[in-house]
Amino acid sequence: MNSRLVAANVIVKVLAGKSMTATLEEAWEQVSDVQEKAFIQALCYGTVRQYYRLEFILNQLLNKPIKDKDVQIKVLALLGIYQLKYMRVKDHAAVSETVAVMKKKPWAKSLLNAVLRRYLREQEQLEALADKHVAYAHPDWMIKAIKADWGEQAKSIFIENNHAPPMTLRVNTRFCQRDEYLALLAEQQIEASALTSSEQAILLATPVMVDKLPHFAEGWVSVQDAAAQLAAPLLGAQAGDRVLDICAAPGGKTAHIAERQLDLKCLLAIDIDAQRLVRVAENLRRLKLTADLLAADATKPEVWWDGVLYDRILLDAPCSALGVVRRHPDIKLLRRAEDITQLQSLQQLILRSAWQLLTPGGVLLYATCSILKQENESQIKHFLNEHSDAQELPIQAGWGIERPFGRQVLTGSQTMDGFYYARLQKK
Ligand SMILES: C[S@@+](CC[C@H](N)C(=O)[O-])C[C@H]1O[C@@H](n2cnc3c(N)ncnc32)[C@H](O)[C@@H]1O
Repeated sequence: MNSRLVAANVIVKVLAGKSMTATLEEAWEQVSDVQEKAFIQALCYGTVRQYYRLEFILNQLLNKPIKDKDVQIKVLALLGIYQLKYMRVKDHAAVSETVAVMKKKPWAKSLLNAVLRRYLREQEQLEALADKHVAYAHPDWMIKAIKADWGEQAKSIFIENNHAPPMTLRVNTRFCQRDEYLALLAEQQIEASALTSSEQAILLATPVMVDKLPHFAEGWVSVQDAAAQLAAPLLGAQAGDRVLDICAAPGGKTAHIAERQLDLKCLLAIDIDAQRLVRVAENLRRLKLTADLLAADATKPEVWWDGVLYDRILLDAPCSALGVVRRHPDIKLLRRAEDITQLQSLQQLILRSAWQLLTPGGVLLYATCSILKQENESQIKHFLNEHSDAQELPIQAGWGIERPFGRQVLTGSQTMDGFYYARLQKK
């Protein structure tokens, strides 16, 4: 099948509300060639990342909007403009290959042809206009929310969100030290460097397929952003501890907790999504680690909890994920302003439920991959106001920004995803 058609169909599904990761997975059933996959992926990610800008430009090129029922044609036009501006595809190939998708629909073919050729003629003026009106390429509500929270710093967050993210590894020091792994990467001509924010983190100069990473299949490394690698050390589980990871899938942090401390009394990883728990099991198997896995609702511990308190609880809460927009640009299309208050209620509910399961003296680490105060410091402030048996343990660190409650990493700071952490101790 034509690569542009596969990409267009993926984006049409994203516009209808499906996640791009899941949609691309489905699309791979029709594509086996590695290079073609890479091209489709670059096209989808890039177009979705720049969606609001491309749509603005397209609107300047149309006399009347393309009807909703013809969304595939609209997406093809966006894909065409994306290739012309951002990809190293020859102009004539970008136009002819994109137009060719509509070969059985002459009116759509001529529309696409006209739009893309006019774009090429007027590119300079159109891009200048886009710079003036939609430079950030984010939905308005998101721009407003991020600016309200971060003022001057918002601009660099928008810029970071529009760049492809780096690929960061976590070395499993049970098998190999970070320096040794850097040497193995160098042998394979994979350029990489150690990150200071986390003891086990390695930053790759360019992303690679995981099967190119030395001993990946045997569990020597995992792919995990450096900000996510902060969770397990902050949780600080000790030998003999009972540990609960209450929103665990796909299990990056569960595995890190297990990797750091082999002598836990127990490690229970729960998630409401049984499908996603399968990924936790796969991750643990590859790393040769174990944990108890349970598909369960964190807001209803009365259904699944055995009544024995936990010493450490990680609550990596479901959130807007506005700190990882560069990794999942479809968030710009999928997330709605009204989701934030709903997520806020769910986060508070899970936090209150998890608190009941913590032993006196025990520590709960609250984490989100969000940069919105509503989901982060405001949540902790609210929780502390309501729970006199809770105290915050400040996080002193060489990363992120100290907040009145917890610590915030803004997207791109020290190469990291946007993340938030707060440590609470039961008195
Ligand atoms: C941010 S992700 C967790 C990422 C994970 N900690 C990691 O490092 O790989 C949030 C998870 O919360 C789960 N979740 C959402 N609502 C839940 C609930 N009520 N009970 C348990 N898990 C829930 C989602 O299925 C999702 O897997």
